[in-house]
Order: sequence, then structure tokens, then C-alpha cells
Amino acid sequence: MRILVIGNGAREHALVWKLAQSPRAKEIYVAPGNAGTAQIARNLDISPTDIESLVKVACQKSIDLAVVGPESPLALGVVDALEREGIPTFGPRKEGALIESSKVFARELMQKYSIPCAQGTSFASFKDACDYVKKQTAPLVVKADGLAAGKGVIIATSKKQALEALADIMEKRIFDHAGDQVLIEECLVGREASLLAFTDGETVVPMIPACDYKRALDGDQGPNTGGMGSYSPSEFFTPELEEQVLETIIKPAVRAMAQEGKPYKGVLYTGLMITTEGPKVLEFNARFGDPEAQVILPLLQTDLVNIMEAVIEGTLSQIDIQWSAESCVGVVMASAGYPGSYKTGFHISGLGEVDQGILIFHAGTTRVESRGKGDSRAKRLQSEASPDSVLTSGGRVLTVAATGKTLADARAKVYRNLPRISFEGCYCRKDIAAI
Ligand code: AMP
Ligand code: GLY
Repeated sequence: MRILVIGNGAREHALVWKLAQSPRAKEIYVAPGNAGTAQIARNLDISPTDIESLVKVACQKSIDLAVVGPESPLALGVVDALEREGIPTFGPRKEGALIESSKVFARELMQKYSIPCAQGTSFASFKDACDYVKKQTAPLVVKADGLAAGKGVIIATSKKQALEALADIMEKRIFDHAGDQVLIEECLVGREASLLAFTDGETVVPMIPACDYKRALDGDQGPNTGGMGSYSPSEFFTPELEEQVLETIIKPAVRAMAQEGKPYKGVLYTGLMITTEGPKVLEFNARFGDPEAQVILPLLQTDLVNIMEAVIEGTLSQIDIQWSAESCVGVVMASAGYPGSYKTGFHISGLGEVDQGILIFHAGTTRVESRGKGDSRAKRLQSEASPDSVLTSGGRVLTVAATGKTLADARAKVYRNLPRISFEGCYCRKDIAAI
């Protein structure tokens, strides 16, 4: 099969790595990929949001399976566009992706179909939102309706902070149109976990539960990021809890989408807060999580190509999906300054010096050959570096992962190897999976 993976993060590297293990995968292309995917697949210099070019290249290369990693192309309708050309594509159509791309839509769906979530209200008027906040008690959670690269949720510990968040989103429009509407929610308390599931629109098959770490610094301090690490399975997620989440949340959500005329297929990611009243939805995502994919996919024992094909063809009920009984831990190495501004173009050393079995999934990396991009320092470093050098090109640079018989085992392997890899200013959390 000729496979096209869309995206350039560590999630997409993990997807390419897993797909490449299938005997059915003959050629894998990645648009645009990174230095890691370039080692095992062919990178194509196309942006994940350039739908026209993606469709064109998929036709040219006679792609048999397209896999969409990130949310933006899903929200733009890349699946609809590829399907129009007859290209089998893994991921929900634009209308299905609304479950992530509009938090207001997701909330209305959950309310209509009695799916447990935080109490809350949506507003399209800044004044109405402010009036509402003034009548509430803090803490409050303010959410921009649309996609905001994981930054659109503000946990306001005072009314003043909530009002400031509203002004940022609705008046200053820091998230542009994503802030046309906002949600104001009660602040849920409990443990967080993510349960991802494959679905063909009817059958739902859960993956193994995972936990991710969104804050930049140890002890869940510092600003929110795209994710600084994760582990799987989550130790407190019992089979009973999984059953409850499946029956009260994930299956009802998939059925609800079908009933609304927006059939959903692909991966449905459910971010959960396990409260004293039971599990409640924090968010739905229309794709694999990043960094969850980097710890879930190494534990998957079934051929991912077969699973994705079954999802597309509506035959998921016929597939037996097997998971390893081991654990997996993934730690993100990030550039100094991330999630704020950071510099790029630094040489990454030690990539070849890790123990066997250590997985290095690349995100913001580039090979020395790719010239013309980056600042002058990056160019200078490029000319000084050896031909197989890898340079940093983003905020989250690598996810270093390992599997082990126990979580502690996997964790020890990762942290033993991390110091061997370095680049100027790199930082990572020291407390991933320290439970
Ligand atoms: P999201 O991008 O929707 O996953 O939100 C980012 C983070 O904000 C989540 O991982 C939670 O830690 C937190 N969060 C979102 N909604 C709520 C809520 N209603 N109550 C408490 N925390 C929340
Ligand atoms: N790890 C959270 C996300 O992918 O949205």
C-alpha cells in the first residue's frame, strides 16, 4: 500500500513508525514530516493545511491510505476533499471534526444526549459573558470555542481573571475567530485521563488509557503547553471505569453524531476528569493525542494498517485489537522558552547514543540539507554540522519513549537515556509518570 501521513509532530512520527511495521506498507509519504520521519519515509514539502496540494499529491502518488494527524486539516475538510477523489482516508469529515473544532457544538451535543460534562454556558456577546461571570463564584473555566493550539482554555481562579480572559478572547481576539464564542464552565476537580477509541461510526474499540502532562514545569507548574509527556496505561483507570466511560460517554457520543447526520469515524479522543460523581468530559478531540500517541502506539500489537482500513470500510467489529501488557512512558524535550518564544537551529547531539529499544519520536527537527529556512544562526550551524546532523526547528523537539514491564521500569529507562541527548537550552520535565 502507498500511504500518506499528514502532519509533522512526534505523533505523526509515531504513526509513520507504527504503519511502517505493517507488511502491507510499501511506501510511506509524510506531508511535511520532520527529520525523524525522513529516516523511515519520504517527506513531502506540503503544509498540513494546504488541502489542494495534499489532494493533488495523493492523486499523483496513487495513495491507498491517507492518515490525518493534526486537527487543523480535519477542521478544514481534508478528509472530505480526499474522499471526493476516491482516496481512502482515516479521520472524520469536516462535520465530524466539529466535535473538536467547536467546543460550543460539543457542549450542545453532550447536553442534548445527556453525556456527563462540566456545567456551563456559551456566549457570543462579550457583555453577556461578563454579566454572567459577575454572578458566579470562582474558580471558573473560560474556553474559546474554536481551535487554539491547546491554549484556548483558561482556568480562572478569580472573577477578575475570568473577565480578563474574556477580554483577551472576545475583545482583543487573541485567538481570532476561535473566540467568536466562548464557554464558561464550572471547574471540575479530580484526576485527569484520556481514553482514545477507534470507531467506524458504529463499532467503538477503546485503546489503552493514557495520562498526559500539559503544564511546562515539574509539579504541574508553569504555563499550559501542547503536552510535556505522558504514560500508558494510567494506573487508576480500572476496567470498570473504562466500561463506564465507554457506555456513558464514548458510545453515546458516536451514536449522537450519527443521529445528528454527522457520522464519525477515525479516532475519538476523550479528555476526562474522574470526579467523585463519576467521569466527566473535559474535551473531545477528533484525532490521536500528542503526546498520547507516542505512548499508546508502542503498545499496540495489531497491524495499524488493518485497523485503519477497517475503520474506513466500516468493518471494525471484525478486527481483534491486541495490546501489550507492558507500560510506556514518553518525555518531551523542549526548546528553552517554549511554550513562549524560543530559538531554533541548534544541533541535537546524542541521538545515536541511546540504549536499544529507546524510541525517539521527532517533532520540531530538521535535517541539515533543508536549506533556505531558519535564521542566519541556523544557517551557520548548518554549514558547521556534519551531513547527518539534525537541528531543532520547533518548541517541542523530541518525545523520548520506552516500554517496560512496569511503569517504573519504563520510566527508569527513559530518564536514564535522556541525558545522553542534548541541544542548547533543552529542557524536560523530571516527573513524568512519577506516581
Ligand atoms: P482542554 O484543552 O479542553 O483539554 O483543556 C486543557 C486543560 O484544562 C485540561 O486538560 C484540564 O486540565 C483543564 N480543564 C478543561 N476544562 C476544565 C474544567 N471544566 N474543569 C477543570 N479543568 C478543566
Ligand atoms: N494531549 C492533548 C492533545 O493532543 O490535545
